[in-house]
Amino acid sequence: MPHISAHINVSEVMKVGQSMADLRGLVQGLIHRNAATEQGEQLAVFRALDGRAYVVDAYCPHLGANLAVGGHVVGNCIECPFHGWQFRGEDGKCITIPYAEKVPDFAKIKTWPSCEINGMLFVWYHCDGVDPMWDVPEQKEITSKEWVYHGQTEHFVNVHIQEIPENGADIAHLNAVHASAILNGSDLRYIRSKLWDFVKHTWKAEWQPEPEPNNHCAQMLVKHALTVFGKHFSLLDVNVTAKQVGPGLVFLIFEHEFLGRGIILHTVTPVEPLLQQVIHEIYYQKNMPAIIPKFILKAECIQFERDITIWNNKQYLAKPLLVKEDSAIQRYRRWYAQFYSEKSKRFTFQKDGLDW
Ligand code: FES
Ligand SMILES: [Fe+2]
Repeated sequence: MPHISAHINVSEVMKVGQSMADLRGLVQGLIHRNAATEQGEQLAVFRALDGRAYVVDAYCPHLGANLAVGGHVVGNCIECPFHGWQFRGEDGKCITIPYAEKVPDFAKIKTWPSCEINGMLFVWYHCDGVDPMWDVPEQKEITSKEWVYHGQTEHFVNVHIQEIPENGADIAHLNAVHASAILNGSDLRYIRSKLWDFVKHTWKAEWQPEPEPNNHCAQMLVKHALTVFGKHFSLLDVNVTAKQVGPGLVFLIFEHEFLGRGIILHTVTPVEPLLQQVIHEIYYQKNMPAIIPKFILKAECIQFERDITIWNNKQYLAKPLLVKEDSAIQRYRRWYAQFYSEKSKRFTFQKDGLDW
């Protein structure tokens, strides 16, 4: 069982299209510490007594106190710590002002569309205020508890959000960055070390956007093989299906002939325009020893940290110099463009221009 903790160890909200939170820690009556959107909005997340999680603006419309700092959950409302106004999670309506005769109709706080699924809370964000246009799919094995939680990793990456999922369509980097044995670690200076040179990961991958009505999704199919002294050990082959859902969520499903099935949920949450928080959570078949998912998560972490070094130090090129074999990158960028709108904020100082 994942632990329930009053200290939620993730920042909860993602922007650019939608947002998310790890809700395992959000017990009833607990208010989440502040979460900020990349546009600078502060949010308060709380679980009301009806069992539902709600997301509201953190700043009270009365005199601006922060509901997430010292506020209380009362029934299905959040109560401001400053003068005790209570706002309903469902629609933000103020239903009690303890010292006033009447609660005016305009006393309301902004609520954010959210849904809780697969152990996470997702908050919809659209810079034009458009309502949610798609749902986050349920992973039945998680909700039925057939697959159980085995831990997570958290990283902060200095990069624009669009660059992280681009990795899925960047087939050529797989064999350059991820071929070296994980025993060589994640420091790019040493991954070519001779020590473990006889072990190699080989990757074959394809990336495709999904057709309507799932055009906000894309699929990457990866076949991973391990060779030792050039010999292929098919026992260690793993097939991974990576389903990208929107701009910042990926379902990585692993299938192995003997070691069973599981999933890594990968979420990218913008904290600032060029700072992303990335969480990987692993769920694995209940009847398998915990060492298997723990090992997979560790291996994934080492590989991911190799990418992080690249991201932390790279530049965004709007017009990259691509060859035919890189064509999935262009297709990916066309696909990702749907998550921006005319009103998306732009970096004006970047000559190539990137929305965020
Ligand atoms: S500032 Fe929130 S009730 Fe006064
Ligand atoms: Fe990568």
